[in-house]
Amino acid sequence: MTSLRTRALVHSTPDGLTVRELDVRAPRGDEVRVRVRASGVCHSDLHLIDGDWPSDEELVPGHEAAGVVESVGDDVLGLQPGDHVVLSWFPPCGDCVACGRGQQWLCTGNMCNEHRLPDGGTAYSADGRDVFPFIGVGALSEYVVVPEAAAVKVPDELPFEIGALIGCSVATGVGAVVNTAGVSAGQAAVVIGCGGVGQATIAGLALVGASPIIAIDLSAERLEAARGVGATHVVDGGASDVAAQVAAIAAEGVDFVFEAVGHVATISQAIALVAPGGAVVLEGLTAADRAVPLDAYAVAAEGKRILGCNYGSTVAARDFPRLASQYLSGELPLDTLVGPRISLPDAIGAFEDMRRARGGRAVVVFGE
Ligand SMILES: NC(=O)c1ccc[n+]([C@@H]2O[C@H](COP(=O)([O-])OP(=O)(O)OC[C@H]3O[C@@H](n4cnc5c(N)ncnc54)[C@H](O)[C@@H]3O)[C@@H](O)[C@H]2O)c1
Ligand SMILES: [Zn+2]
Ligand SMILES: [Zn+2]
Repeated sequence: MTSLRTRALVHSTPDGLTVRELDVRAPRGDEVRVRVRASGVCHSDLHLIDGDWPSDEELVPGHEAAGVVESVGDDVLGLQPGDHVVLSWFPPCGDCVACGRGQQWLCTGNMCNEHRLPDGGTAYSADGRDVFPFIGVGALSEYVVVPEAAAVKVPDELPFEIGALIGCSVATGVGAVVNTAGVSAGQAAVVIGCGGVGQATIAGLALVGASPIIAIDLSAERLEAARGVGATHVVDGGASDVAAQVAAIAAEGVDFVFEAVGHVATISQAIALVAPGGAVVLEGLTAADRAVPLDAYAVAAEGKRILGCNYGSTVAARDFPRLASQYLSGELPLDTLVGPRISLPDAIGAFEDMRRARGGRAVVVFGE
């Protein structure tokens, strides 16, 4: 096995985004090299690009992807070339306390938040210089190298675009409902923010039979999309009487509010909207170092719960195949979550559309 050339999007602080040719080395040990077939554009990539999460390194963005295993390292046991896989951006190390408890989404043994593979390095280079994978994946690239634990086998008939979304927005959104919050049929829920993560959250709420499902966004187009995935009611987040409109729809109070924006104001709004005894689920990620003012007396006195949600409390090896089979059986309709299918250079424009909340979730599709 040798290194390959790969076309990838690269972000650097002075130059912003460029499409570049990189070398991607062969997989070692427990790593696999995957030919990416579809890679979604997620707001977490935009946080990097917009400097919300500053980095002065050259990074390949992208972490919501599916593809085909191209080659495997000597210690790989469960995958072989030709397997269709969905990539995970938070692979379990298997050895830490959180992994021991089965809470893989809290693993402390991977180096995703440092934009490194678990061994502390990277498989990408350009002219001998290291280029690092954003959150340990770097999937806006024709090829990626990841540990075996970050590549979960899925059925060949799963479309690559759906597989890509399962790798982040769907795992996060549906997982927030099913794993983090444990919503039951008949419970009332609000979702603030109806981008990729918010729409997947609504699809998850519809799956478990929540009712009503109230979607809030500033964009009429996004509210329409929210109805398409199962919102029973929509509310314009720019209106002056959002709380009154929600109260009129959910007369007995809102059991769960899912925040899928990541702004201080919408997090405060979520805490205010949830009923006493209810739970706010924080899916949206703020810019680094943002603090949210909290009426701690009211939260305590009203027994409100605030649940942090990393990756929908996902155990990828369990949840990715389950989500794939729920999609394939028709139980979890996800087709409308896929927005424009674009080429790699068009991803730069897709980030601009995301800033303006225009269109559905863009997915870069790579040829065979
Ligand atoms: N917790 C996790 O593990 C996890 C995983 C993936 C993404 N995220 C985070 O989730 C957030 C959403 O990601 P996305 O890819 O869905 O983003 P997106 O850009 O596709 O969607 C954001 C939506 O929020 C809406 N919005 C903006 N301001 C609003 C307001 N004041 N009121 C109501 N709606 C508003 C926008 O119109 C848009 O529809 C980001 O912060 C992202 O980093 C978290
Ligand atoms: Zn993401
Ligand atoms: Zn671990």
